[in-house]
Amino acid sequence: MDKVPVSSLRIGDHVLKFDRSWLGTDFLSHKFIIKDQATIDRLSANGIEFVFIQPRREEEKKITDLYEGRSDELINVLAQEAPKHQLNLKEFNHATDVYTQSVTMVGSVLSDIRSGKSFNNSAIRSISDSIAKVTVRNRGVLASVTKLQKHDDYTFHHSMNVSVFAASLAAHLGMKENEIERVANAGLVHDIGKMLIPQEILNKPGKLTDSEFIIMKQHVQRGYDFLLKQGMRPEMLKLVLEHHERHDGSGYPNGLSDEQISIDGKIGAVVDIYDAITSDRVYNKGMAATSALKLMFSWTDSHINKSVFEFFIKNVGIYPVGSLVMMSTQEFAIVGKTNNNKPTDPIVIVFMNKNGERTPLKVVDLSKSAIDRQKIIGLINPENVTVPKDVYKYIDNLNKIA
Ligand SMILES: [Fe+2]
Repeated sequence: MDKVPVSSLRIGDHVLKFDRSWLGTDFLSHKFIIKDQATIDRLSANGIEFVFIQPRREEEKKITDLYEGRSDELINVLAQEAPKHQLNLKEFNHATDVYTQSVTMVGSVLSDIRSGKSFNNSAIRSISDSIAKVTVRNRGVLASVTKLQKHDDYTFHHSMNVSVFAASLAAHLGMKENEIERVANAGLVHDIGKMLIPQEILNKPGKLTDSEFIIMKQHVQRGYDFLLKQGMRPEMLKLVLEHHERHDGSGYPNGLSDEQISIDGKIGAVVDIYDAITSDRVYNKGMAATSALKLMFSWTDSHINKSVFEFFIKNVGIYPVGSLVMMSTQEFAIVGKTNNNKPTDPIVIVFMNKNGERTPLKVVDLSKSAIDRQKIIGLINPENVTVPKDVYKYIDNLNKIA
């Protein structure tokens, strides 16, 4: 039995005992499973400060620690998975090429829909085929490329990123190659229905009105119906139809709850949310990966499936190779190599001082702790900084040694 403060209780915890007699409370029993936030609030309202709960599984503890900001625990969670798939330079370059070419193709397929031209299904199939092949060889390499490049067009990059992340997550979950290809394929077209929504609603900078939001939500059903008409089979399109369904049944279009949502739908929800909140838009800067993961943790068991999310945390890494970062010294750096044991402390290459002036390149291993050690304080939008070309040679070299 573990004693925990009521403030740190989570949905799913098994309460076994209160810190005082339950008879003086409005609870009929002191043994129950926390099913919603309202129960936690009710415990507080009854003046209960601590409860005894059944010990959480080890994995759940680590995730709780992550949410509560105890980053050492986060490091352990990530470190279990990170070493398995070292970045290999050739694979990295290949992945960069696949990503760049695919985004252009996805962009033209989606633009064709908007302008009423026919749907190029074979282009989508060939992209998802290469995403699946690269992912089967190296589960994380394409995911490490997603945030490397400038994002000129959110929708096209988002479609590509959802596909790449979904494929990677599917591989981590042990799905077979044809299943990985299925989620990669559906990921590419998951928002195709947005091409059928009026652009003034799609690109509206501020908050949508209620009636605009109703139209916006139709992108799921419209996209699904469109793809069925193109001859795609319903079982291939679960990620498309279910990526806005939510764990607690509050999603759309069908209000499915967790047990009714397919694994493809669960994967779709996690990766769609992650990419959406970490991407820069015209009017909005994306969140840093660490903050995004913390926020998403607070949505487990309400919006998203917790187990799938746990796999996702292990998968994406916090600072993939190529991320542009701001150091605590206010210098600019690029992540050169992921540190297997400490994914939050990678090896970085510092190339610019706080005044935006180029400095001689300096390789810093953030895991080698010094008394006043440097830290990464956040990700930087690549659009705001020109990275000198020779930095990439350093990245190549760092990863060659591995
Ligand atoms: Fe969507």
